[in-house]
Amino acid sequence: ADGARVPALVIGSGYGGSVAALRLAQAGVDVQLVEMGMAWDTPGADGKIFANTTSPDQRSFWLRTRTKQPLSNFLGFPIDKDIPRYTGILDAEEFGGIVVYQGRGVGGGSLVNGGMAVTPKRENFGAILPTVDPGEMYDTYYPRANAGLGVGLVDPAWFDSADCYQYARVGRKQAQRSGFPFVFVPDVYDWAYMQQEQAGTVPRSALAGEILYGNNYGKKSLQKTYLPRIAATGRVTVSPLHRVTTVTPASGGGYTVVVEQLDTSGAVTATKSVTADKVFFAAGSVGTSKLLVKLKATGALPNLGDEVGKGWGDNGNVMCGRANHIWDPTGSLQSSIPCGGIDNWAAGGAFAEVAPLPTGIETWASFYLSITKNPNRAQFSWNPATRSVDLNWQPAWKQPSIDMAKSIFDRINAKEGTIYRTDLFGTYKIWGDHLTYHPLGGAVLGKATDNYGRLAGYQGLYAIDGSLIPGNTSVNPFVTITALAERNIEKIIATDF
Ligand code: FDA
Repeated sequence: ADGARVPALVIGSGYGGSVAALRLAQAGVDVQLVEMGMAWDTPGADGKIFANTTSPDQRSFWLRTRTKQPLSNFLGFPIDKDIPRYTGILDAEEFGGIVVYQGRGVGGGSLVNGGMAVTPKRENFGAILPTVDPGEMYDTYYPRANAGLGVGLVDPAWFDSADCYQYARVGRKQAQRSGFPFVFVPDVYDWAYMQQEQAGTVPRSALAGEILYGNNYGKKSLQKTYLPRIAATGRVTVSPLHRVTTVTPASGGGYTVVVEQLDTSGAVTATKSVTADKVFFAAGSVGTSKLLVKLKATGALPNLGDEVGKGWGDNGNVMCGRANHIWDPTGSLQSSIPCGGIDNWAAGGAFAEVAPLPTGIETWASFYLSITKNPNRAQFSWNPATRSVDLNWQPAWKQPSIDMAKSIFDRINAKEGTIYRTDLFGTYKIWGDHLTYHPLGGAVLGKATDNYGRLAGYQGLYAIDGSLIPGNTSVNPFVTITALAERNIEKIIATDF
């Protein structure tokens, strides 16, 4: 409520924000959790909470009048369409040189993502978070995150027979024929539920192509894991459709947080002011970076360090498709949840997920999302003319990612006698190199903050989300974001409360 005073305010309800809210509440601290997206707890006119990928509607995109689907074309036809402007679930946020996809709603990115829940190989950890002790992460915090998130693995025997993973078996066969290791990738999907989907005994979610705009049944988003535990504490007030705009020191100590209430058209219906003793920035890599850069530049928090806004990376994301021979069909029924990848990280700097193309028809296509060791890092900065935050990522900075992905797919194409698909990202365009799903950095641990996320320059301000991680995790990031948040909040509760 306007004028309230709270011990702790958390900005954003994704992985970092959910961990912070849960652990603070369990330690007896009352928490205000502020989320700019919707609650996603009420069915729409079709009886479902979330829209399907095959028929995007107003629920699908954050304040756009036209869809901006990651795959913009199919068989030469553009597939985007007009939709009503609405506070939908997936934000395709456009900066000068890159589109950054993010989840919007209570649960953040967990609402829209593929649920691939991957702990990095320990030998790669030193390059991911150089100032963090790997021992405590692999002994305590990765296990805690995996348990809290409900991470599980596909049953390999079922995988071998399920129609919905024919595309992944083709991906495995071709990877192995070219000498690449194929590894199963854990996921937070309820695997027993997926087996029932395949058997036809329950309503379909992954097998109905649900992904990107939410999953109605089997995916264990934060709505099924951390968020019910948060509610059970009775100490956390969640405010959906509330957007934090300013944080500034309060005269009597603590911070004044200005929050705008939104309606579903995105219009501001009220502006409220809350005083918080401590504020946790968990608005995601982009959201936290944008807030901190703005607050430093506009004089609200002038003492934030010069590292704020720096060290941003795209986790080396790049997508591509390959055209298979007619005798290698990938199946008309494809689970939207990937469960395997091709590991060429050590030799070629690429880890490629075998991804679905759930069109409902046979496409003879193999589709991949590669995570690569792209070394380029961008910076957020305040633009006084537009009064907004820019990101200086350049499209050409994706070239290292393409080269690394080619270390896998050029070899597979040569071995199989196949070619790249050129119809998925435009006309005669092979690489989906205009986007990322995995923004990381902008308030890097040990640079913009101390080694536990305490922001330099102010007591009682913390970053606790993907902004802490300097640009790359070598695999999909949310398990690492969750584990780091678990580590940091434990220390913060022990020493700062
Ligand atoms: P996250 O982005 O989850 O949460 C931030 C929250 O803050 C959002 O809900 C946002 O609305 C809110 N917010 C922002 N600004 C605010 C403000 N000013 N006021 C109030 N609220 C504000 N990762 C993975 O490991 N495996 C996978 O399979 C995938 N797949 C995938 C697919 C797609 C389509 C996307 C978009 C992303 C993925 N990811 C993924 C990435 C993963 O979802 C992402 O890394 C995490 O959600 C990031 O967690 P954070 O806690 O950092 O922020």
